Formats: sequence, C-alpha cells, structure tokens
Amino acid sequence: MTVLTRIPDTAMPLPADIQGFTLAPSAHSPRLLEMTFSREVVEAFLEAVAEWPVQALEYKSMLRFRVAKILDDLCDNTLQPVLINTLVDRGTGGLQVTAEGLDDVEQAEDMVKFATAVAHLMGRSNYDAMSGQYYARFVVKNVDKSDSYLRQPHRVMELHNDGTFVEQDTDYVLMMKIDEQNMEGGNSLLLHLDDWEELERFYRHPLARREMRWAAPPSKNVGKDIYHAVFDVDASGLPIMSYIDQFVQPKDFEEGNWLTDLSESLENSPAILSVPNPVGSFLLINNHFWLHGRDRFQSHPDLRRELMRQRGYFTHAKTLRNPRQV
Ligand SMILES: [Fe+2]
Repeated sequence: MTVLTRIPDTAMPLPADIQGFTLAPSAHSPRLLEMTFSREVVEAFLEAVAEWPVQALEYKSMLRFRVAKILDDLCDNTLQPVLINTLVDRGTGGLQVTAEGLDDVEQAEDMVKFATAVAHLMGRSNYDAMSGQYYARFVVKNVDKSDSYLRQPHRVMELHNDGTFVEQDTDYVLMMKIDEQNMEGGNSLLLHLDDWEELERFYRHPLARREMRWAAPPSKNVGKDIYHAVFDVDASGLPIMSYIDQFVQPKDFEEGNWLTDLSESLENSPAILSVPNPVGSFLLINNHFWLHGRDRFQSHPDLRRELMRQRGYFTHAKTLRNPRQV
C-alpha cells in the first residue's frame, strides 16, 4: 500500500566528491542520514567565526548567512547542495548532524553557531515566539510546571509536526542537544510518513482535508488561532501533515474521535524510530513528511537536559506547493 506517486527531481546537482564531512545511512533507518564534520573543519569554522558571539547573529540576521558561507567554503562548497537536496528528498529528508569535538555544554555558544551555519545553507530560521530569537534554548529538569508537554520529562511527547499554530511556513526543524546529565531514556522519536502503515487510511478519509482550528497555550506567545487541515499535498502531489495532538481544537464529536484514532495509530506505529541524540549533535528534518516526538525518561533529582531548536523555511528547493515566503 503506497500513495507515493512521483519521486521529486534532484533540486541541485550533487557534488561528485564531498569534502570536510561524511554522509552515511543511520543504523536506525536508511531514511535518516548521518552527516559528520571532521574535527579539522569544525575547528577552522569556529576560529573563522570567533569574532562574532551568538549575540551578533541574533542582532544581525545577515551574519547567519555569512557563517553558513564560511562553513560551506571550508567544505569546498560541497555542503550546500547536499543539504538542499537531502532536506527535500522524499526518500530521506532527515539528517543527524555531528561536529567532531563539539560535545560539551561549555561549548554551547559554538554549538548554536554551528547549527545556525548548517540551517542557513538551505533555509532561514523563523522568529521563535517562545524565546524572542531565531532559536530557542530550553532546559528540562525533573520538576516542571509548564503548560505543555514540551518540558515534562516523565511522559512521552507524542509525534507531531512543528509550526501547526503559526502562520509562517515551518519547512524544517532542527533539534540540538546542548547538555545532558543524569538522563536515562528520552530518545528522539521520529516517523517518516511513508513508513506509517496507516497513512492511506487516514489520508483518504474525508476529514483529512477539512480545516480545523489550532490554538496554542499561553507560553507559546502566539495570540490567535489558525485554521488548516491535518493533511495536504506537497509540490509533487504526495501527502504531508501539519498535526499536533495538544493544540488541535476539534469542533465536534466526529472530529475529536477521528483525531484520537489518528493519534493512536501514529503512537502505535511499529515504524517509529527511537534515536539517541548525543550532546552536540542535532537532528534536522523536513517538517512536512517527518513527525517527531520524545520518549519518556527516568526520574532523577539531578536530571538536566538542555536543548536548542530552530525552525524555519526553505530558501532553495521547496516541499510546499504554495510557500508563503521567498
Ligand atoms: Fe516539536
């Protein structure tokens, strides 16, 4: 059973030889590619961008693209086409990125710079209303009083797409681990839509394309509700999703029960990948055909985990039929 109708063309010619990094399928799934930067490139990059603290990247948006160029130049310009193509490639669309030697919370600023450079070779990170910056760093501790499951450790954060309740396009999601202490469990959970065995059942349902209301809790700093369907099609006619269980507001019995069926199907899919993300590494996924979540973790009084996220829109190849920006 498949709804795959057409494999998208390559967005940019791929380099015959890649320089400064390696690319290999992850042991978790051939859809997830492991991109590893050599220590030499990482050190040269950090030295070249040392004059700009992260605050400079916050204040001057243009510098985010300059640090991107510096990283690509260090890779003999073989990095950018790989990133552009991989993020929109329906067969993969996901990377786990590791920078050798960047693995300690003391290097948190350098981690933000490195992730910013990678993201801005194929996109631009959106304003994050939770932090007021183009990225957000947040800490998960043993006790949490927040109003969503984002920072609550002892339960699963269900599979979802990001950007469901904002008006900006959210083409990619970047999730970086900055710190981790006394952690057991808590892997990232990922599900590629084409691996979900019940995609056809839900995608073909009449409610799949009905506009529903999406509203966020106060901590998200998003004032107004937005309306869209759970499913749409991408530029190639393939199904994509914009869904999160906590923020969809079904208007009636029919919508509420269909959404609950959908949630149960997603959560019980045997195709879910459980991926550990070490300190300094990040996951970078196409937000339209990958769902993400987080597994539960063990309680510990000194548990600490710090994460950094960036969400943004693609500036080169597109997944959406009618992108809003660029
Ligand atoms: Fe998320």
